[in-house]
Amino acid sequence: MTVTVREAMRADLVAIIAIETVSFSDPWTRGMFGSHLVSQVGNSFLVAEDGSDVVGFAITRVVGDESELLNIAVDPARRNCGIGGLLLDAAMDRCRNAGGLEMWLEVRASNAGARTLYDARGFAAMGVRKRYYQAPREDAIVLRADLRSTARIETVTRAGLSLNAEPVDSILSPASHFPRQETK
Ligand SMILES: CC(C)(COP(=O)(O)OP(=O)(O)OC[C@H]1O[C@@H](n2cnc3c(N)ncnc32)[C@H](O)[C@@H]1OP(=O)(O)O)[C@@H](O)C(=O)NCCC(=O)NCCS
Repeated sequence: MTVTVREAMRADLVAIIAIETVSFSDPWTRGMFGSHLVSQVGNSFLVAEDGSDVVGFAITRVVGDESELLNIAVDPARRNCGIGGLLLDAAMDRCRNAGGLEMWLEVRASNAGARTLYDARGFAAMGVRKRYYQAPREDAIVLRADLRSTARIETVTRAGLSLNAEPVDSILSPASHFPRQETK
C-alpha cells in the first residue's frame, strides 16, 4: 500500500465528510470544509490518498508565526497504520514552510489515540479549556509543538507499509485572524 498526501479538491468532499461523520460526535458541515477548500492565505487542506481512495485529511492555518491544526481524521478502517502520522507530518511541514514557528491544537481529554499521535510529534500540554466540547461535554487539552525542533519527515515506514508523502512546496503567507472555535 502506498499512501500519498496531496492538496484536497472539491471532488474529495464526499469521502472527507464520510470520514468526519464517523469520526466525531460534533462533525463539521460541508460548508465548513468547503470554506477551507477556497485558497485562503495561510490555509492548508491536505488529504491522504491510497490509489483513488481518500483515507484521511488534515486542515491547518498559519497566522504570523503561529499555526493551528484545525481538523484531522483517518478512515476508521485505516487507522493505526501510520496515515495520521503521515498527514500530521505533512501538515506540520506545510506550516513550517509558511513561517510557522509553533503549532497549537485542542484535543478531547479522553482521546487517547490522538493524544498518542501528538505526543509522538512533540506536542506538550499548555492548558485546559474547561467543558470546551459538546456531545459529550468534555474538557479540551491545549497542546503546543515547537516546529523548529521537529524534523521534516517525508517517508514513514510502519508495519510493512510504505507511506510516501509528496514534497510540500507551497509557501503560504500569514492571515490576519486566528479564531479557535472550529478546532477539534
Ligand atoms: C487521531 C487519528 C487521526 C490518528 O490516525 P492514525 O492513522 O490512527 O494514526 P497513526 O497510525 O499514525 O498512529 C499514530 C500513533 O498513535 C497511536 N494510536 C493510534 N490510535 C490509537 C489508539 N486508539 N489508542 C492508542 N494509541 C493509538 C499509534 O500507535 C501511533 O503511535 P506510535 O507512533 O507510537 O506507533 C485517528 O485515530 C482518527 O481519525 N481519530 C478520530 C478523529 C480524531 O480524534 N482526530 C483528532 C482530533 S484532535
